[in-house]
Amino acid sequence: MKSIQSYKYLIHFNKNSYAEINSYLADNLPTKIFVLVDENSHEHCYPVFIQQVETKSDIEILEIESGEENKNIQTCINLWNVLTELGADRNSLIINLGGGVITDMGGFVASTFKRGIRFINIPTTLLSMVDASAGGKTGVDLGVLKNQVGMFSNPEMVLIDSQYLTTISSREMRSGMAEVIKYGLTYDARLWDRSKNFTGFIADEIDSLIYRSIEIKNEVVLKDPKEYGLRKVLNYGHTLGHAIESYFLESKNKENLTHGEAIAIGMITEAFISYKLFNFPKNILEEIKKHIITIFGKTVIEKEEFSPIMELLIHDKKNTNGDVNFVLLTNLENYKFNCKVSKELIVESLDYYLS
Ligand code: GLY
Repeated sequence: MKSIQSYKYLIHFNKNSYAEINSYLADNLPTKIFVLVDENSHEHCYPVFIQQVETKSDIEILEIESGEENKNIQTCINLWNVLTELGADRNSLIINLGGGVITDMGGFVASTFKRGIRFINIPTTLLSMVDASAGGKTGVDLGVLKNQVGMFSNPEMVLIDSQYLTTISSREMRSGMAEVIKYGLTYDARLWDRSKNFTGFIADEIDSLIYRSIEIKNEVVLKDPKEYGLRKVLNYGHTLGHAIESYFLESKNKENLTHGEAIAIGMITEAFISYKLFNFPKNILEEIKKHIITIFGKTVIEKEEFSPIMELLIHDKKNTNGDVNFVLLTNLENYKFNCKVSKELIVESLDYYLS
């Protein structure tokens, strides 16, 4: 598959990508290479990675505990300390080998350490392949508020090797599919049609779904890297989705949702709001609900939980002047930004999801 040119860096695919990283390492000779992993990517992905990599630079492994609850400033402090102890300098390189937590946080740690050292992203989950690893967003959560602290900073390159997907659970695969569905609904109705056939690990289809998703993301990011306008489209489903994800994260008696499970709810509820406010076609709304629930199942949310979810919406970082901003659809591939929605309609949309 042909490499994709992003803003001053390339996204490489599958086998070809290791030749690219090896030639990068030979040209740049990092003083030290730090490979950031969690226990899962360490066990299942690092052995694959290290077999392909040729370099004269020393390699150190930095392992953090997996999970969104560890994507915080304390983990960054630990990593900055370890980098210092291990003698990282400005010519060192961090390779982020893992899912969205690893690429988001590893990018942030690299970009802030000694005013910025270089990093490469090697996503190992579908979610990080189709979304988090490209586009330059790096950062961490602040308490339960997602990605509240961070910066735009681009990697040296991104390597997408879909063989890593054999190491993740079907739940994690579904999580990534939520972002593929988002690209389909907002940008490419054919991709939406294809995503409806998702049944798990679809080896033949997956490379092409990933490639098309990255093409769309890259096109958007190149036009609006800092999210002043068009890039907001990538937040479809994420306004209510993030609030629901945060709510589950902070509720001690509830199992965390994956990012994709929360965004799935966000896409249904925001399609409902789109139908109410902008006449988004009812038949497509119903189709969205049916297909998304077939893939993700229905999450139980009690009526009394609506209020804390609404509270969390107020902290969404996409808000301006205290208003909650939604991306809504007027049809497939047609969207509107900065839409204000009443509290009553948000509650109605949650009722629709649960009905
Ligand atoms: N995940 C949305 C974005 O990168 O803008």
